Amino acid sequence: MQSIKEKLNPDHLPKHVAIIMDGNGRWAKSRGKERTFGHKHAIQAVRNAVNACNEINIPYLTLYTFSSENWNRPQDEVSTLMSLISETLLLEAEDIFSKGLRMHIIGDIKKLPPLVQEQLMQLVEITKNNDRGNLVLALSYGSQKEILNAVKQISAEVKSGQLNEEDITEEVFEKHLYTKDLPPVDLLVRTSGEVRISNFLLWQIAYAELQFLDILWPDFGKEDFFRCIYDYQNKERRFGKTSEQLDEQI
Ligand code: IPE
Ligand code: IPE
Ligand code: MG
Repeated sequence: MQSIKEKLNPDHLPKHVAIIMDGNGRWAKSRGKERTFGHKHAIQAVRNAVNACNEINIPYLTLYTFSSENWNRPQDEVSTLMSLISETLLLEAEDIFSKGLRMHIIGDIKKLPPLVQEQLMQLVEITKNNDRGNLVLALSYGSQKEILNAVKQISAEVKSGQLNEEDITEEVFEKHLYTKDLPPVDLLVRTSGEVRISNFLLWQIAYAELQFLDILWPDFGKEDFFRCIYDYQNKERRFGKTSEQLDEQI
């Protein structure tokens, strides 16, 4: 069977794809297993997404891995998730490096176990000169807190005279977000059938295309990723303009 990848237009790829990887618990439940069984099987789906992205050269992939609200889950689930993250980083570090990916972390990482923090910092450091793609992990991430922190930093700068109020532009604001080095999100995908954002990249998805898939995350494959890109390429992104104006620009 022909892959949908062959139908993609390489000149019209999204620069930044973000994924809300949801549905691990339901995937496990439907098999009569514990929720953590689903988290373990989620790792292959992460590889699928990273590999698919790499194959078609999408420069930025952001994965919602653990939200600030996920700390409220049962303690044993949180511990299992932290151990899995740590094991996976250890196992995948070489592959990430050899693919030429640069790793970034967004979120309140000080809340993570010290070992995980250390592993993340190391991976960010050793991949900092890689330039074949960017892999962004959102860990202990909450968008409202991120925005609030930006507001606090900016007001401190105004108070101390470093910044004038009239100079607070969208660009200045963005420089105070975790995502300061990343482009805006072009395509946001959420698996599991839920149609919500769950406190993810609220500012950064202002003009993103949104896709909600009825697939549970552990079942997500490369072909699903390519299908998302295909559907994205069949949308007209007008950014407030009319279709006719866009035709004139070509
Ligand atoms: C996503 O799957 C993984 C995390 C949020 C860490 P879930 O664990 O939310 O699975 P469901 O949504 O309960 O099925
Ligand atoms: C969002 O999924 C967070 C991640 C995928 C890491 P959740 O399963 O936590 O979202 P809600 O609680 O259903 O909105
Ligand atoms: Mg969920």
